[in-house]
Amino acid sequence: MNTLKTLSATLLLGLAAGAQAQTAGPIKVGLMLPYTGTYAALGNMIENGFKLYVQEQGGKLGGREIQYFKVDDESEPSKATDNVNKLIKRDQVDVLVGTVHSGVALAMAKAAKESNTLLIIPNAGAGAITGPMCGPNIVRSSFSNWQPGYAMGVVAGQRGHKRAMTITWNYAAGAETVKGFTEGFQKGGGKVVKDLTLPFPNVEFQALLTEIAAQKPDAVYAFFAGGGAVKFVKDYAAAGLNKSIPLYGPGFLTDGTLEAQGPSAQGLLTTLHYADNLDTPRNNAFRKSFALAYKTNADVYAVQGYDAAQLLGAGLAAAKGDLSKRDVVTAAMRKTVVDSPRGKFTISPAGNPVQDMYLREAKGVNNEFKSVAVKALADPAQGCKM
Ligand code: PHB
Repeated sequence: MNTLKTLSATLLLGLAAGAQAQTAGPIKVGLMLPYTGTYAALGNMIENGFKLYVQEQGGKLGGREIQYFKVDDESEPSKATDNVNKLIKRDQVDVLVGTVHSGVALAMAKAAKESNTLLIIPNAGAGAITGPMCGPNIVRSSFSNWQPGYAMGVVAGQRGHKRAMTITWNYAAGAETVKGFTEGFQKGGGKVVKDLTLPFPNVEFQALLTEIAAQKPDAVYAFFAGGGAVKFVKDYAAAGLNKSIPLYGPGFLTDGTLEAQGPSAQGLLTTLHYADNLDTPRNNAFRKSFALAYKTNADVYAVQGYDAAQLLGAGLAAAKGDLSKRDVVTAAMRKTVVDSPRGKFTISPAGNPVQDMYLREAKGVNNEFKSVAVKALADPAQGCKM
C-alpha cells in the first residue's frame, strides 16, 4: 500500500513537473524557410509577417514568450529531412513553421508526424499534406496548390478562351496548380492542349517560349514564383508573346515581384486569396503596420506568415499557453475563424483554408482586386485519415 502511495505520489509529481515545463519559459518556434535561392524573398516575407503578429501581441502568444530558431532550407528537398531534424532534435522546438517549397514541406510533414510536433505551413501548397497525410497537428495558413489554379481555370473559361497551354516547374506545386487550372478550365468548355515543364529552379525559358509561339494557344497559364517569376514574366514580354497570347497564372506569378518585373507585368490577370488593395480596416491596418516595421510593402507571403502566427495564437490562447494540452491547441486552431488581412477564413477538417479566391490585375506595384473569382473555395482533398 505504502509503495503504491509513494508510486502514485511520484507519478503525480512527475505529471505536475511535466505540465509545468509546458507553461513556463518561452515557446520555441522553429522557422524552416528558404533564405537563399529563388524563393529567398518569400521566406523573408513569411518570417517578417509571423514576427509582426507576435510583436503586435506584445511578444507573447497565449501568455508565453516566443523564442525563434531558424534554418535555411534552400528549397532543397534532398536536405529537408536533415534540416527539419535540426529543429526537432537539436533545438527541440515546440512548433515548426515552414515552408515555401512543396517538396521540402512534404518531408517536414513526415518528420512532424513521426515526432508528433506541431506544424504550421505558411505557404507550400502540396495537396497531400492536407489530403492523405493530414493529421490533427498540421495546419496550413496559406492555400492548396489546386485552389488558385482552379480559380484561374474558371476565369479563363469565362473569358472565352478555348485552347490553353501551361508552363511550370516540374515538381509537386507545378503539377498540382496545373491540375487545378485544367479542371476549372474544362468546366467552362476549355481544353489544355499542352503542358510544358522545366526542372526547378531553372529559368532557361527560351526553347519553351518558342514552342508556345509555334502552337499559338488562346491563353497561357504559368506557375512560377519569386526570382523565377520575375525572369519568366520578363522573358514572355521580351519574346513579344504578351502582345498576342494572354498570360495568366496563380497570383504567385506577380506577388512580391512587380517592382522587379516592371512594365512586363502590367495588366496581368491572376487569381489568389489576397489582393494588395483590399480596402478593409483589417488589411489597411496590417499593410500600414508591416510597412512601418519593415520599410517595404506586404505581399501574400507576409499575410500567410502573419496568419500562421494568428493560428498558433488561437491554439495557445485556448490552452492558456499550456502546450501539453495538445488536443485543446489543435482543436482551437481548426475551429478558429482567422481574421486575416485577406478577409476572414476558416480551416477545413483536413487543415486547409477555406477561402475566397480573387481575380486581380497588376497595376503599378500592386495586384489590384477586380472581383471574387470563386467564393469560399475548399480544396477537394479526400482520403484524410486523422
Ligand atoms: C510550393 O512549392 O508549394 C509553392 C512555392 C511558391 C509559391 C507557391 C507554392 O509561391
